[in-house]
Amino acid sequence: MARIKIKELLKSTAYGSEVTVKGWVRTKRENKAVAFIALNDGSIITNIQIVVDVPSFDEDTIKLVTTGACIAVTGTLIQSQGKGQTVEIQAKNINILGVSDPEKYPLQPKEHSLEFLREIAHLRMRTNTFSAIMRMRHAMAFAVHKFFNDRGFVYLHTPIITGSDAEGAGEMFRVTTLDPIKPPLTEDGKVDYKQDFFGRESNLTVSGQLEGELGATALGEIYTFGPTFRAENSNTTRHLAEFWMIEPEVAFNELEDNMQLAEDFLKYLVNYALEHCKEDLEFLDARFKKEEEKKPQAERAELGHLEKLQFVVGHPFEKVTYTDAIAILKDSKPFKKGQFKYPVDWGIDLQSEHERFLVEKHFKKPVILTDYPKQIKAFYMKQSEDGKTVRAMDVLFPGIGEIIGGSQREDVLDKLVSRAAEVGIDEKHLWWYLDTRRFGNCPHAGFGLGFERLMLFVTGMSNIRDVIPFPRTPQSAEF
Ligand code: 4AD
Ligand code: MG
Repeated sequence: MARIKIKELLKSTAYGSEVTVKGWVRTKRENKAVAFIALNDGSIITNIQIVVDVPSFDEDTIKLVTTGACIAVTGTLIQSQGKGQTVEIQAKNINILGVSDPEKYPLQPKEHSLEFLREIAHLRMRTNTFSAIMRMRHAMAFAVHKFFNDRGFVYLHTPIITGSDAEGAGEMFRVTTLDPIKPPLTEDGKVDYKQDFFGRESNLTVSGQLEGELGATALGEIYTFGPTFRAENSNTTRHLAEFWMIEPEVAFNELEDNMQLAEDFLKYLVNYALEHCKEDLEFLDARFKKEEEKKPQAERAELGHLEKLQFVVGHPFEKVTYTDAIAILKDSKPFKKGQFKYPVDWGIDLQSEHERFLVEKHFKKPVILTDYPKQIKAFYMKQSEDGKTVRAMDVLFPGIGEIIGGSQREDVLDKLVSRAAEVGIDEKHLWWYLDTRRFGNCPHAGFGLGFERLMLFVTGMSNIRDVIPFPRTPQSAEF
C-alpha cells in the first residue's frame, strides 16, 4: 500500500479506510491488552497515535517497537477518542523496518539539553524542536526565492571559490591542492601559488556581493543565496564559520530604496512564517515561554515569541543615522552610569551592547542605522558629501543585533579606487569590478541578510548553532 504522510492523514476524515504510514517511534505505552505507539514521520510536528490490540499481534514484533525504531503500519483510520488528536490508526499489520536498541539510542523520551543535542547533531532532527526548526528553515528559504521571484529578480549563482579577498569582510579559508608539508616555493622562499590548482591564491568566498554587482549592472535586479565562509575566531552565539547569506543588488537604487527593500523583505519573511508555519511556530512559542520562565523576572522578554513576530510585521522600522545614535547612547542611563563595557564615541564600531540598547531599550523596535563613518565600513560604500560618512545601513533586530548589512555603492570611479588603495586593496585584483564603473556605470545598492540570524529571530532560539543542521564553528566540524 502506498504510504501516506502523517501531515495529510491528520487532515483526513476518511474514517474506516485502510492506510499505511511509515515513521520513527517516539514512544510506546502498553499493557497486556493494548499498546499505544506515537509515530512521527517528520512531515509535521504532531505524532499519529497507533492503537495495537496486543493479543492479536506477534509478541516479538511488539517488543521491537521501541523509541527510535523505524516501522511501517497498515491499519484502519479511526476517529480519535483521546484528547489532542483527531484521528488515529487501529493497526492491522506492523512491519519493523529498522530496529533501535533502546539501551543505546541517545534520544530518550524526555527533555535533552541543547548542548547535549549539539553533540548528537546527526540525530537531533528527530526531536520536536529540531524538526520544527528545519521545516521552518525550508519554508524561509522558499519564501526568500518567492519574494524575489515575484518581484522579477534574477537568482545569480556567484562563485564559492574566489581569487581575492576584495571585500575585506574577514579572515578567509584557503583553497589549495598543494602538498601541505612540502609546498613548492618561489626563489625567495614563499609558497609558489602559481603551481597551485588555480595558478593563484584562492579562498572560500566571504560574500557574493562584488560578483552580484556585475549581475545587477546587466540584469537590473539580482539576488544571491549561498554558503558564505568566514574564518574569524569569534565563538559567539551569533557567528558561524559557514553560514548562508542572501544578497540582493539593485541597479538604480539609492540608500532610501535599499532601506525600503530590506524592510519589505524582512516583513515578508516573518509574515510568511506566521502564515505557513503555524504548528511549528506554536510549538516554538510554547518552548520559548518555558525557557523564559527559567529566567529571573527582570531578564524575561516583554513579548512572547509570536507576539514579537507580529510586532515586527505591524510596525515601521526606526530609521536613525549613526551620528544620532551616538548622541542617544551618550545621553543614555547606562552610559552615564558607566554600565557599557565599551566606549561610545563618534567613529567607533558599535558593540552589541550598544546595538541592543538602541533596539531593545530605547526604540523597542527594529532599527535601521545609516550613514556610518567611512573608516569603519567597506571600501565600496558610497561616500557622502560631508567627506566623513558613507551611505551604509545596518538593520538591527531585537535579541539578534545586526541582521542585515548593506549600502549604496560608490559609483565614482576615482573615489572607489582611492578608497580601495587606502585600505590596502590592490587595484589590479579588482580590474573586473572596476569595469562596472568604467562601462555603463549607474547608481546601485544592495545588502546581505544572514540567513541563520533570520532563523534565530523566527524560531526564537538563542544560539546560532541550533538553527543550521550541522554548524561549523572554531574547533568543530563533526558530521
Ligand atoms: O555585514 P556583512 O559582512 O555584509 C556583507 O557581507 C556585504 N557584502 C553584504 C552586501 O552588502 N551585499 O554581512 C551581512 C550579514 C550580517 O548582517 C549578518 O546577518 C550575517 O551576514 N553574518 C553572519 N552570520 C553568521 N555568522 C557570521 N560569521 C556572519 N557574518 C555576517
Ligand atoms: Mg556588517
